[in-house]
Amino acid sequence: MGEYLLVRGGRPLEGAARVPAAKNSVLPLLAAALLCEGESFFTQVPRLADVQQSLVILSALGCEYQWRGRGLAVRRCAEAPGVLPEGPARAMRSSVFYLAPAIHRCGRVRMPMPGGCKLGPRPIDIHLDGLDKMGARVDWRGETLTVSAPWGLTGADYTLRLPSVGATETLLMAAVLAKGETVLRGAAMEPEVVDLAAFLQRCGARIEGAGSPMIRVQGVRELRGAVHTPIPDRIVAATLAAAAASAGGWVRIQNCQLEALAPTLEILRRAGCRVEPAANAVTVRRVGWLRGVGRVYTGVYPAFSTDAAPVVAAALLTAAGRSAVEDTVFENRFACAEGFNALGAKTARAGRALEIEGVRALGPARVEAKDLRGGAALVVAALAAQGETKVYGVEHIRRGYGDLAGTLANLGAQVRLCQE
Ligand code: EPZ
Repeated sequence: MGEYLLVRGGRPLEGAARVPAAKNSVLPLLAAALLCEGESFFTQVPRLADVQQSLVILSALGCEYQWRGRGLAVRRCAEAPGVLPEGPARAMRSSVFYLAPAIHRCGRVRMPMPGGCKLGPRPIDIHLDGLDKMGARVDWRGETLTVSAPWGLTGADYTLRLPSVGATETLLMAAVLAKGETVLRGAAMEPEVVDLAAFLQRCGARIEGAGSPMIRVQGVRELRGAVHTPIPDRIVAATLAAAAASAGGWVRIQNCQLEALAPTLEILRRAGCRVEPAANAVTVRRVGWLRGVGRVYTGVYPAFSTDAAPVVAAALLTAAGRSAVEDTVFENRFACAEGFNALGAKTARAGRALEIEGVRALGPARVEAKDLRGGAALVVAALAAQGETKVYGVEHIRRGYGDLAGTLANLGAQVRLCQE
């Protein structure tokens, strides 16, 4: 079984933690750097597994990169065939972000179906349909996708059939160097979309309406690299808030956008946590028992984030009474339920929902992460479990958290990485 996180639960948290740059912002930003002449520099980039995979893809597409302290410089230096390396492309969903930049840079792109957390069907039909409407030719040969536009892309008025975050980001990156105007209707409004648009505008792109359901783009001939600080990771912030709720004590979460965290904080407040907002920070405090919150639903931004659902559910396992968390975005968000129940929780999956009946105490277990946010949720739950819990599947957690064990240990938790 290899490595695991050893969590000795039952200790309250106490202290401050600074939220790193957002994984789901950094990953499309790195792809967008391929669109630019000259160097782009991202001032804060977490050392995540998915970032490492992205750098392998960027190198294969003719880019050079250089870590400078916590920052990362990316520059396109050489012509390259638009072929994504199989391993990294299959290792994460974010390889899809290279479709549009590679088409603009190489005239075509060839890649396998992207990978990523197994949260249910994750087609890329909206990405491809939008690119088709902008003049690209889409070919599948088995699992290998080739998209080509040797004469470039042309702006289009395109309605997304659902507000896909990734498809909005793909089509935004396609539009900024396309000929003429593009209108994206029914676009995703997530903060990470807004952050990508802000970087592209800094590079010379002409974008209006990012963060609203309608984005209007005037294509330009060239973009020049820029310096950009990615937004804080709202899901890491939600994880820290849920950890305080689960373990008890308090955590002061620094460098976080309260607006993006509001739905998570509202649920934790309803469960009985004390939430003390400040400028660019919030302290989440749990004193005594939590209470169930009834049924809550995830949704597209600005609703409660699907990615925060597992960690919030973990905090509700010992809340007196009933709770239910229903994910309207993915079909298989709660693969972590098996691990919760191994810890002594009383949960049941019902369609896209996780039904929770609060228990007085959780106990130690051997559990395995099946995906990124479910893995973080198992750690959050283990903080409340008396005794020693072993959380396997650390490779999933490493995709989205630079050092979850170290962050929690700095808050007084007894969590450390162990080898079998
Ligand atoms: C992004 O994934 C995030 N990943 C996910 O975070 C996040 O859960 C998701 O947005 C929703 O907020 C990154 O940004 C790297 P979607 P993405 O396209 O773009 C369906 C994490 O843990 N869909 O908004 O893949 C899809 O099947 C990850 O950090 C289509 O049907 O999400 C899903 O049901 C997990 N066709 C729904 O839309 C498409 O072409 C939302 O997916 C695209 C999506």
